[in-house]
Amino acid sequence: MAEDLAVDVRWGTPARTHDPWLLANFRPRSTDILITTAPKAGTTWMQQILYQIISGGDDGFESIFDVVPWLECPRKNKSREETLQEYDAMGDPRVFKTHCTYEQTPGNDRVRIILTSRDPRDCCISFYHHIMDMTEEGRAMAGVTAPATFDEYFTKWMAFGSWFRNVRSWWPHRDDPNVLWLRYEDMKEDLEMTLDRILDFLGHELTPTQRERVLEHSSFAWMKKNAGRFTRICDWGVNLFKPGGFIRKGQIGGYRALMSPEQEQRILARAQAMLEPACLDFLGLRRGN
Ligand code: A3P
Repeated sequence: MAEDLAVDVRWGTPARTHDPWLLANFRPRSTDILITTAPKAGTTWMQQILYQIISGGDDGFESIFDVVPWLECPRKNKSREETLQEYDAMGDPRVFKTHCTYEQTPGNDRVRIILTSRDPRDCCISFYHHIMDMTEEGRAMAGVTAPATFDEYFTKWMAFGSWFRNVRSWWPHRDDPNVLWLRYEDMKEDLEMTLDRILDFLGHELTPTQRERVLEHSSFAWMKKNAGRFTRICDWGVNLFKPGGFIRKGQIGGYRALMSPEQEQRILARAQAMLEPACLDFLGLRRGN
């Protein structure tokens, strides 16, 4: 059976939310749009923006994962083959969420890729709240345990290192014609400008009414009010978060409330060791920031 076939290491290591088999067997189309991010960099926000664009502002969906699936995330109630069949049956343009590195992304030279990056200090804190705001049932399903202290969490986050891996792998491709790299901080400052950049990149147009709906439905206030549509990961069947979790604060620089200056320096030092100066400049992470 195809499920048993070994998968090349290129597609990553199996984990609760990462099935290399799905990546290896996915059939990309040039019309596909893949959202790729390090966790907590605005993935769900971009899922919503893109779904809003392609649907002209639909607010009738139940879960964002029904309309913008998480490509590599195993389903609870479907086999891998069924999941792929579902992907094959989707109309164009298909939009998927991933947390893949460049190397793990299927069709990385063909599909259209929208990448969102965010300050690693804010991503780190956002992920801490992500875990703390989960229900017990949600944590059990995701295979995570609540850390006893922030320090314990911080050590694990640094050891896991997905922010650094993700950004390093994508940086050499920032100017590829099929890649659009957006920063969470710019999106926060000017959502309309972000929308225009995406529309330009996709060659897509909206009527004035659709534009108004896209902007309204992509606002933090609308997403917070409709948080239940964004918190049911894949088909896992339960709302994984306590009320008020996940679509949480959406702020810039909130890390200062929890992170010590020493921890902050450890993040910056690792970024400075792993990323090119131009990348650090682009992300605002040069020494002293
Ligand atoms: P905070 O935890 O800092 O509030 P991801 O989807 O990659 O997991 O990222 C989640 C982060 O994006 C959370 O950050 C969440 O609040 C924020 N977010 C979600 N929707 C947003 C929106 N419309 N505007 C701004 N931030 C948003």
